[in-house]
Amino acid sequence: MPASKAVTQAIVERVNDLRQQVNYHNYRYYVLDNPEIPDAEFDKLFRELQALEHQFPELITSDSPTQRVGAAPLKEFGEVRHAIPMLSLANAFSEEEVQGFGKRIADMLKHKDPDHIEFTAEPKLDGLAISLRYEKGRFTQAATRGDGETGEDVTQNVRTIHSVPLQLVGKGYPDVLEVRGEVFMSREGFYALNKKQQQLGAKTFANPRNAAAGSLRQLDSAITASRPLEFFGYGFGEIKGGKLAPHQSEILEQFKSWGIRVCPEVKKVRGIKGCLHYYANISERREQLDYEIDGVVYKVNAIAQQEELGFVSRAPRWAIAHKFPAQEALTTIKAIDVQVGRTGILTPVARLEPVEVGGVTVTNATLHNQDEIERLDVRVGDTVIIYRAGDVIPKVASVVKERRPRHTTLFKMPDKCPECGSDVERVEGEAATRCTGGLACPAQRKNTIKHFNSRRAMDIEGVGDKLVDQLVDKGLIEDAADQYTLTREQLAGLERMAEKSAGNVLHALEKSKKTTLARFIYALGIRDVGEATALNLAQHFGDLDAIMEANEEALQQVPDIGPIVAAHIVSFFKQKHNQQVIKKLLKAGVHWPQVSQPIRSESKLAGKTFVITGALATMKRDELKDKLIALGAKVSGSVSKNTDYVVVGAEPGSKFDKAQKLGIEILDEDGILRLIK
Ligand code: IVH
Repeated sequence: MPASKAVTQAIVERVNDLRQQVNYHNYRYYVLDNPEIPDAEFDKLFRELQALEHQFPELITSDSPTQRVGAAPLKEFGEVRHAIPMLSLANAFSEEEVQGFGKRIADMLKHKDPDHIEFTAEPKLDGLAISLRYEKGRFTQAATRGDGETGEDVTQNVRTIHSVPLQLVGKGYPDVLEVRGEVFMSREGFYALNKKQQQLGAKTFANPRNAAAGSLRQLDSAITASRPLEFFGYGFGEIKGGKLAPHQSEILEQFKSWGIRVCPEVKKVRGIKGCLHYYANISERREQLDYEIDGVVYKVNAIAQQEELGFVSRAPRWAIAHKFPAQEALTTIKAIDVQVGRTGILTPVARLEPVEVGGVTVTNATLHNQDEIERLDVRVGDTVIIYRAGDVIPKVASVVKERRPRHTTLFKMPDKCPECGSDVERVEGEAATRCTGGLACPAQRKNTIKHFNSRRAMDIEGVGDKLVDQLVDKGLIEDAADQYTLTREQLAGLERMAEKSAGNVLHALEKSKKTTLARFIYALGIRDVGEATALNLAQHFGDLDAIMEANEEALQQVPDIGPIVAAHIVSFFKQKHNQQVIKKLLKAGVHWPQVSQPIRSESKLAGKTFVITGALATMKRDELKDKLIALGAKVSGSVSKNTDYVVVGAEPGSKFDKAQKLGIEILDEDGILRLIK
C-alpha cells in the first residue's frame, strides 16, 4: 500500500460510523422488513465504506458489512462440536397425535387440562438447521446440524447471508449467544436462481430446500454469496454471561431486538385447540407464504416447563412438528399420452400408478414438452418422484434411475397430431410442438369452445368441459356458435342430462348473449390475446368491424400490441372459418353495448399495475378486477417492484407484507373506491 495514505482518527471514526449506519439499515431492511431510506441512499453509504476500506485495507474487520462477498475457497469444511447438541423433533401426522402430545405433557406437568398450557406455534421452515455463535455480540461461527453432536463449519458461507447480522444491535444480549434457526430460500429466490442456472446451462434445483442446501454447502463461499439465502432464528444453544427471557415467545422478541430475523408468522397460542386452529389457518395460507413450509412446530412456551419436561432420546418432549401431508410421493409411469390444447400445443402427460400426494390421489402429471422429457430422461416404466404444490398440476420432480426396468426406450413426441392426424411442427426457438390442423382438429375445437364458454370469457355457466366433449363427439356442435342453436330435445338426449338441466343450459346460453366487446374478443381465443389485450383492442377501435379490418400497422397503435401479436390477430380474422363463426354468433344474437370512446389515455389509472389481496366488503375481487381493467389498469396476481398499488381487504395474505417491504402504495377498500370513482 502506498505509504502516503495515513489513517487519521477522523477516517477511523467515519468508517465506524458508516458500519453502524449500514448495519442499522440492513437490520431495518432484512429483519424488520421496514426500510427507512431508499435503496439508492443505502448504496451510497455502502459504497463509501467500501471505498474507504479499499483505500485503507488495515481497517477491514471480519464483521464489516462489506465482508459478505465470500472468502477464498476451502478444501473441505472443518468440524464443529456443538456445545449443546442440536436436536430434532418428533413428528405428528394427525390431530390425534397432536392431542396425544398435549395429554402427555399435561400429565407430566400435573396440569389437569392441556387446554391451559401456553405454546408457541411456528411454521416448520423447509430449509436446513444452523447454529450461529455470537461472542460479545460479534458473529464468530456458524455450523450445520450434522449428526446433532458435530456439524460442519460453514462460517464463511453464512457470513454472506444478509439476514444474519455480523454484529448484534441493541443491548442485553449474553456474552455467548448461540442462535439456532433455519437457512432457507424463498420461492422467488428459488425461481430466480433456477432461471439463472438454466441460462448458464448449469444444474437446476428440484425445490427450494435442495437449492438452499446446495448453496450453503459450497466450499467456495463466493458462490454462496451469489445465492439468495435467508435466515430465521427459532431457538438457542449455548448461553454464557447473560440470560434469556423465561418464555420462547419473549426470546424471539429479544432476538428481533438484537437484529436476528424471526419468522413473522410465529404466534403464542393457548392449548392444543389453539395449536390446531393455527395449523388450520396456516394450511390455508401456505401457498401464499414467500417460503415453503412442511408443517408447523408447537413448543411449550415457558422455558421452566420445557426444562421440567426434558428430552426423550434425541428430541425434546416439549415440542412437536405437526407435518403437512407429504407433497412428494413415489410411483411408476404406466404410459405417456399426448394432449392437444386450444392453440394446438401438444403436451405430454404421464399416466401414473395412482398415488396419494398431499392428501389427493394423483393419476396424471404433466411433462410439459420434449425438452423437459429429455431433461428428466423420463421413460415409460420408470419409478418417479411426483411433486405437488397447491392447486397446480402435479409434476415429475425426478426419475429414480436405479429402479429403471430393462429395455426402456426414450419417449419422442409424435410426428402427427394424435387427435386429427395432421402434421405437427416445432417452431425454431420454441419449446412447444404444435398441431397444424387448426380447427379441423377436434381437440383444438373442443378446447376453443371451452375457452369461449369460460367464466372470464362468455361465462356460459351451464356448458362445462364434459358437456362440450359430449356435444362435439356426438356431432351436435362444430364450433362455439353452434351452441346457440341447440334444442331442448337435443340436450335432453345426452348423458346425465335431465329435462330440467337442459332448460338451465338453454337459459345460460341465452343469458350469455349479452356481453361486452372486450369479453367477446377474448372469447374468440386469438393466440396471445388475453383479457388485457382484448380490452385494449375494444377500447382502441370501438367496434368489431374495425378490429377485423385493421392491418398490422394499425393494430400496433394499440398499447401492448407488438408485431407478433398483430400478426396473430390479422391471420385469425383472415381465416374464412373464423369469419363464419363470428357471423353465426352475431346472427344468434350475441351483442354488446356500444364502447364509449377510448378512456384509456385519459384515465389516471391507465397502465398502472394493481394487486388485490384479502376479502373486500362491498364487492367481489373479480368485480374490482373488471373495473380496474376497464379503467386501463392491469391486475396482477403477485407483488413485485413493478406493482403500483396493492389493494388490501380483510385478512390479507403475504402480498400485504411484501408490499410493505417493497414500499408499495397500499389502498384499503375506501381508498380504492375513491380512486376509481
Ligand atoms: S425447533 C429442539 N423450530 O425442523 C428443537 N425446528 O425436524 C429443535 N425446523 O432440525 C428444532 N422450523 O431444521 C424448530 N420453527 C422451527 C423449525 C424447525 C424448521 C426444522 C429444523 C430441525 C427440524 C426438526
